[in-house]
Amino acid sequence: MFRPLGFIIAAAAILGFATVLLVAIPTLQLTQIPAESGLRPYQPLEWEGRRVYISQGCVYCHSQQPRDGSLGPDDRRGWGRASTPGDYVYDYPHLLGTMRTGPDLFNIGVRQPSDDWHHTHLYQPRAVVPWSIMPSYPYLYEWKLKPDPNDFVVKLPPPFAPKEGVIVAKREAVALVAYLKSLKRNYPPTQHQWGKRFKKGD
Ligand code: HEC
Repeated sequence: MFRPLGFIIAAAAILGFATVLLVAIPTLQLTQIPAESGLRPYQPLEWEGRRVYISQGCVYCHSQQPRDGSLGPDDRRGWGRASTPGDYVYDYPHLLGTMRTGPDLFNIGVRQPSDDWHHTHLYQPRAVVPWSIMPSYPYLYEWKLKPDPNDFVVKLPPPFAPKEGVIVAKREAVALVAYLKSLKRNYPPTQHQWGKRFKKGD
């Protein structure tokens, strides 16, 4: 015999149980994670650059989740220490990424602190890394006959430099580079690191 009320109650109970287990408890756990003590919130320009990073789809080729040496050679690649949950507290939405067509960028600000390098590379990756398959982002820059005093002029080697005038960074490019340079997790971690095996006493 079909009992609609019993069926509805059972379905609601299963759904409620799953929601508590898979939504409510993880949300509570995740919102209680404190920031790593060495981590500082993004500055307004860096936050703006993060929006540019999202809009340009950088996350499709770059991860932001270096793993422990026991899971892969990320540390030997120079991508920095394994990340901790507290490293991500100010990241919304998170940009962990799933593809590594290019290097992990969670610590790019440590490896590459130069504005000149970043702008040349974003304008034309092949100007600094001849074999690069990264797309160029020339529309984040503009051509000017003479730069204004506050303009950031991109340094370009002869084959990539315009015959006359200069290439200067638009606001999006300036913000994006500020964001890339802010990606530094080189303070000592206080929380459990991603992929690190638990040892007694951890
Ligand atoms: C189609 C894949 C692809 C996309 C999309 C992409 N990249 Fe890359 N990226 C690469 C590859 C491959 C490299 C390594 C070669 C090089 O340095 O150019 C790289 C290198 C880099 C590096 C240097 C990393 C290092 O360790 O030296 C930075 C910084 C970078 N990309 C930033 C960006 C940003 C910012 C965006 C979005 C505006 C972006 N990438 C989009 C593939 C990509």
